[in-house]
Amino acid sequence: MTEFGRSRWADPDFTKEYRENADIYIVERGRMFGIMRSFYRHFISDAGRKCILDLGCGDGVVTHNLLSLDNDISATLVDPSAYMLDKARERFSDSDNITYVQASFQDLLQHDRIQHDYNFIVSSQAIHHLSTKEKKRLFVFILSHLKTGGYFMNIDVTLAPSENLEDWYMQLWNEWMNDRKADLGIDRDLFKDIIRRYKKADENRPDTLEEQLNALSETGFREVDCFYKYGIFSVYGGKK
Ligand SMILES: C[S@@+](CC[C@H](N)C(=O)[O-])C[C@H]1O[C@@H](n2cnc3c(N)ncnc32)[C@H](O)[C@@H]1O
Repeated sequence: MTEFGRSRWADPDFTKEYRENADIYIVERGRMFGIMRSFYRHFISDAGRKCILDLGCGDGVVTHNLLSLDNDISATLVDPSAYMLDKARERFSDSDNITYVQASFQDLLQHDRIQHDYNFIVSSQAIHHLSTKEKKRLFVFILSHLKTGGYFMNIDVTLAPSENLEDWYMQLWNEWMNDRKADLGIDRDLFKDIIRRYKKADENRPDTLEEQLNALSETGFREVDCFYKYGIFSVYGGKK
């Protein structure tokens, strides 16, 4: 069985639960997508016909955000989950400018099935499934598929630089989820277990932000920076 096949993301019930609740437990999900849209408007939208690559696309929520700004986009969506890709196909049933690739990052690193170069390569909440070594290889892959002047952005969880900080970030995350539940009037204990599950699951392999920024610079990206961070959630990237 592949590494993806062993992960919880291969289970449609787990995936369905994520789709239903991600807006709540990724507390600033909307804000991070807003930052991505602002970044896209500022750096990418003027480039004529744009090609974008959405890595670990899930149900296509990231591409949906970009298409809400700009119709002049050809998008390639990659995810190993047939369930997620089906949901993306449903979402974009009226669009003919979307290509779907069913593959894990490990598959792509083994056999590069991506034919194009892109103006914008983006990923949300997926690259942390890779080991440090695999992340570095994926950054090389991403750089090789960017057009000169194109950008990469990753919206993802990161590991705190110390255990003390990690403990506090988990506490903060819990407090944010409780606030969010109170705002939304949810009294069920929906997320009691989420932090424990996040920490325990073998497929979650976050690295520190510093390590990933350094890896991007070493790979050859320019203007590498963290664009936003709250607790373990970060938005970072660079330019080719
Ligand atoms: C938390 S969801 C994020 C989906 C979407 N990008 C979003 O922001 O809602 C993680 C996604 O990563 C995908 N995934 C899990 N393991 C992966 C791997 N090894 N390679 C590529 N994608 C993977 C899952 O199928 C899932 O769609």
